[in-house]
Amino acid sequence: MLEAATRLLKPSARSNVPPFMVMDVMAAAARIEAAGGRVVHMEVGQPAAPAPQTAIAAARAALATGRIDYTEALGMPALRARIARHYAERYGVAVEADRIVVTTGSSAGFILAFLALFEPGDRVALANPGYPPYRHILAALGCEPVLIETTAATRWAITVEALIAAHRTKPLQGVLVASPANPTGTMIRAEALAALVAAAQAEGMRFISDEIYHGLDYAFAPETAARLSPDAVIINSFSKYFCMTGWRVGWMVAPGALVRAVERLQQNLAISVPMLSQVAALAAFDGRAEMEAVKHGYEANRRILIDRLPAAGLDRFLPVDGAFYLYADVSRFSNDSFDFAKRMLEEAGVAATPGIDFDPVNGHNFIRFCYARSADDMREAVARIGGWLRRVRQPGKPA
Ligand SMILES: Cc1ncc(COP(=O)(O)O)c(C=O)c1O
Repeated sequence: MLEAATRLLKPSARSNVPPFMVMDVMAAAARIEAAGGRVVHMEVGQPAAPAPQTAIAAARAALATGRIDYTEALGMPALRARIARHYAERYGVAVEADRIVVTTGSSAGFILAFLALFEPGDRVALANPGYPPYRHILAALGCEPVLIETTAATRWAITVEALIAAHRTKPLQGVLVASPANPTGTMIRAEALAALVAAAQAEGMRFISDEIYHGLDYAFAPETAARLSPDAVIINSFSKYFCMTGWRVGWMVAPGALVRAVERLQQNLAISVPMLSQVAALAAFDGRAEMEAVKHGYEANRRILIDRLPAAGLDRFLPVDGAFYLYADVSRFSNDSFDFAKRMLEEAGVAATPGIDFDPVNGHNFIRFCYARSADDMREAVARIGGWLRRVRQPGKPA
């Protein structure tokens, strides 16, 4: 009896995914602020700027009509057509609107893609370090995430050699790459991406490209996998470049043969993406000038960090290619990045994310900074970190 009751209350084994530690940092920062303290926020990967004015105005107008309905499961035809046009305009690549699926942020895009592509037990290669939900969603769906170690030598990207070596050890059914990547902010060169797509597909692996940070590049232009193969699955979102995290709207470019499967899944899992968000997303494409100004702000922030962090004591970080992240090696100070982030928050008032969230192997040596807020915040953060690290290195001495 008691056993049966306990069983009823027990969560499924597949729901046993790890928490996102950045949430703990956010909660600790909120406590400091509630007590009147000042915190510079560099922990959460979200733009501080609002959605484009064009998007907000379109949403207001749609609300005023009083009718917000379901849409077609694959998305509003006008939005799907506009996204297809985006590939022609931005990359010079022809993508049929029929292959575009509007999703509830890229997060739901991953769930739909993994369900449509993989069987339970399938093995999917991911770069380590990487965005934690990739492995957690795969695990929750009964697939096996296979972490492939990356190094500075290959700009922190999976190489063809490493992919094939993992595949020879035990066959892989898929591989997911991101460029620009989270947490590293590094990018894959077009030739390297092309080689990876070709190698994966030659070995029968499905290829998924997370392009959510496209548009936020500072070193060289990112390549889209849509140019490289009609069989690659591309995941993207309005969350980052268009500053629309809370609107929960993104998209997928699916291979033609998969669209119907994705449509059936979406019909059953969500019916449709919220219409209000789709209306706003369509109008967001007209707000690009505003978003380019926001991007220039990130570029200025990136410069401040690259120029000033070394003198403040953090002089080892990965190439700051894109997105709005800087991934710093803090092993000179600590080999416990969670404790380092906690102390930096409590003692310096700067919130950042411990690398251990993104990399179970070496993440204890790294901290991720998000530079999506104001330039003043960046200057203040560097000054606070510099003063704090001097105190840490010379205990007892005032900064
Ligand atoms: C690499 C990467 N992919 C996907 C996502 C999910 O974003 P969303 O669901 O808001 O589109 C994030 C969010 O931080 C991310 O960093």
